Amino acid sequence: MSKTIKKIGVLTSGGDSPGMNAAIRSVVRTCAFHNIGCVGIYRGYQGMIEGDFKEMGPRSVNNIVNKGGTILKSARSMDFKTPEGREKAHKNLVKAGIDALVVIGGDGSFTGALLFNSEYDFPVMGIPGTIDNDIYGTSYTLGYDTALNTVVEVIDKIRDTASSHNRLFLIEVMGRDAGHIALNAGIGAGAEEILIPEEDLGLDRLLDSLRKSKAAGKSSSIVVISEGDKIGKTVFELKDYVESNFPEYDVRVSVLGHMQRGGAPSCFDRVLASRLGVKAVESLLEGESNYMVGILADKIVLTPLEQAIKGDSEIDTELLRVSDIMSI
Ligand code: F6P
Repeated sequence: MSKTIKKIGVLTSGGDSPGMNAAIRSVVRTCAFHNIGCVGIYRGYQGMIEGDFKEMGPRSVNNIVNKGGTILKSARSMDFKTPEGREKAHKNLVKAGIDALVVIGGDGSFTGALLFNSEYDFPVMGIPGTIDNDIYGTSYTLGYDTALNTVVEVIDKIRDTASSHNRLFLIEVMGRDAGHIALNAGIGAGAEEILIPEEDLGLDRLLDSLRKSKAAGKSSSIVVISEGDKIGKTVFELKDYVESNFPEYDVRVSVLGHMQRGGAPSCFDRVLASRLGVKAVESLLEGESNYMVGILADKIVLTPLEQAIKGDSEIDTELLRVSDIMSI
């Protein structure tokens, strides 16, 4: 292992996700295992600019493997987008003796890391943390599995009341640009229809699907809608549209919102976070930089950050067909 890296900084940036704490713990303890220092950087890149640092050892991360959110806090820093902001951040890192960075976040965070590396030749490694699962180079991002379980649990509860009142529920889930949550939680929770940003299914298809549900004798229906779906109507406008076409339908809207980002991480996310953290630190110690650590076919692999940022995390269109068959 390379002797050049003596201290690694770790930060969480962008939208938080369950499993980030488990990843911080893994980075801190892997550093301790290899006898190098570790510094927690608070509030993402903003804390880097402000020098908001804390030395961390194995005991600083006790009892966080099971906690949602991020003990290091997260932020979307506007200052880091400026050369002056990045210069300040670099000075602070040098002053604190930090030689390399692990950035836990999404593609916006990785873009910042790559830019920082290109300006200061500073070793960086990314760990994908977002509930949206929209990052190329990994089958799973941290928090996605937990969010799916949260959404399914909530829709199960909504189904109880939907069926008691013969109602149609339009349920909006997170996924600004990606339909992974909607598609998978929708199938898992038995939704009649799923609307996602990747496919413009159109309003006609939605009406058609509701018509079929009724004809098939279903007394209540669940439609799962990704917040970024292509129909271009808000979930409340969709409610009005459906009601104007089917006055007999009693429609209710449920926007699940940020509760999807909270809660204790699933076992899957905890194990994934632990594996990704080990690989991120050990890759830096081996002299690697500018990669994202991800999981593909259950193997922990490195993908160049540039590809992770630019590539598309495509949805599996077979899932749409499965959903259609299931909602017959
Ligand atoms: O974490 C990603 C995401 O969950 C998106 O799906 C969503 O649009 C966004 O975060 C909202 O985050 P915020 O309210 O923090 O801007």
